[in-house]
Amino acid sequence: MSAPKITVIGTGYLGATHAICMAVLGFDVLGVDVAQDKVDRLNAGQVPFFEPGLPELLVKALESGKLRFTTDYAEAGAFGDVHFVCVGTPQLAGSNAADLRYVESAVTALAPHLDRRVLVVGKSTVPVGTAARLTGLLRALAPAGEQVELAWNPEFLREGFAVEDTLRPDRLVFGVESQWAQDQLHTVFAPIIEQGSPVVITDLSTAELVKVAANSFLATKISYINAMAEVCEATGADVHQLAEALSYDSRIGGRFLRPGLGFGGGCLPKDIRAFAHRAEELGIGQAVAFLHEVDAINRRRRSRTVDLVRELAGGSLRGARIAALGAAFKPNSDDIRDAPALDVARMLQESGAKVRVYDPEALENARRAYPNLEYAHSTLDAARDADVVVLLTEWTEFREIDPAALGDVVAQRKVVDGRHALDPVAYRAAGWEYRALGRP
Ligand code: UDX
Repeated sequence: MSAPKITVIGTGYLGATHAICMAVLGFDVLGVDVAQDKVDRLNAGQVPFFEPGLPELLVKALESGKLRFTTDYAEAGAFGDVHFVCVGTPQLAGSNAADLRYVESAVTALAPHLDRRVLVVGKSTVPVGTAARLTGLLRALAPAGEQVELAWNPEFLREGFAVEDTLRPDRLVFGVESQWAQDQLHTVFAPIIEQGSPVVITDLSTAELVKVAANSFLATKISYINAMAEVCEATGADVHQLAEALSYDSRIGGRFLRPGLGFGGGCLPKDIRAFAHRAEELGIGQAVAFLHEVDAINRRRRSRTVDLVRELAGGSLRGARIAALGAAFKPNSDDIRDAPALDVARMLQESGAKVRVYDPEALENARRAYPNLEYAHSTLDAARDADVVVLLTEWTEFREIDPAALGDVVAQRKVVDGRHALDPVAYRAAGWEYRALGRP
């Protein structure tokens, strides 16, 4: 059997990375997107977002002749043997549910061009039950009818580590309805499976659930340690030491146990909400009702961080000059979707503070989304004459600042470490008042 040709529909973080990596692995790949500007940029060798390592791989894949991008679904239908659906499923406006319009329109646009036996593979994060519904839609619209199969292959990549997570994933999950579909996926992922990534074969519903279950677990772990931080705040205990002590228990483990400002981004917040919403639709809301609490704890981190800045500013934020270090939802990303950092900056400003934001990569996105905030072009520029410095995203650049040099430009040496990323001993030695939630 010759190697299957692959299309990847949707060229955001997930799709662009998947398309590029599949081409680097040696497959012929066609990326599809409705946005002409994205397609043009990708064809010209430009990744439209910040992702370490990906621009080099895009150039390599384009040069090999194995990868190109189009807006034409007819071309995609003629080209592909395996079609990956990688479009976004954001939170629906005014609801906790996932907005499935992009998934539905991708399937609706592709199906009329499927006139032979092909496999369509969903990678997008969707509410359980979506794949079963899409199978009906696909077969009703495709000229090849029942010959078209749908599989689900959830994606677990982290922004900032997208290439690594795609080429060397912790596991692959194949939600399939036939041996043929399973064999197709095995062929497509053969280079990755050979390197040792385990494969779990499931039905469609289980595959859909694995993704939201994983993200719910991770979100719960972060909110758990942040809940412990609240207890520490009330008792004078130190959540940093508490987390370290917990982390040595191999049953608990130290990853995703970093306390601070909590989780944001394009996945964790909307995934736990969509999961809770779907469970309510299914009449089993109680089973995951704790996710509402996980969300509430997480949101509280943002307002508690604002409270701590207010305290350091002397009880009122009115007129206080605040240097906000960080805008991205996490370091090594320019993504500001549901970014805790910008939420805090916004709340500080709404309380009357003069906020200056600096981020190494996310300034452009931040400026577009929050045009009313003030932006600086460097850490020291943001910190100049500040009454309080607040660290909101733990970029290495911020961790490595010399507290004495930073102290030279501020009005007052007062710092709130929203991410538990700075060294309190070094800051205190340089004359700073250092505060972090959950640390005495
Ligand atoms: C997440 C999942 O990790 C990934 O598997 C899934 O495919 C998509 O969602 P991502 O959104 O890229 O990936 O970011 P991640 O590294 O998981 O961090 C999420 C948020 O949690 C960030 O805002 C981060 O700052 C925060 N976080 C993470 C903590 O507050 N504490 C931690 O210990 C870990």
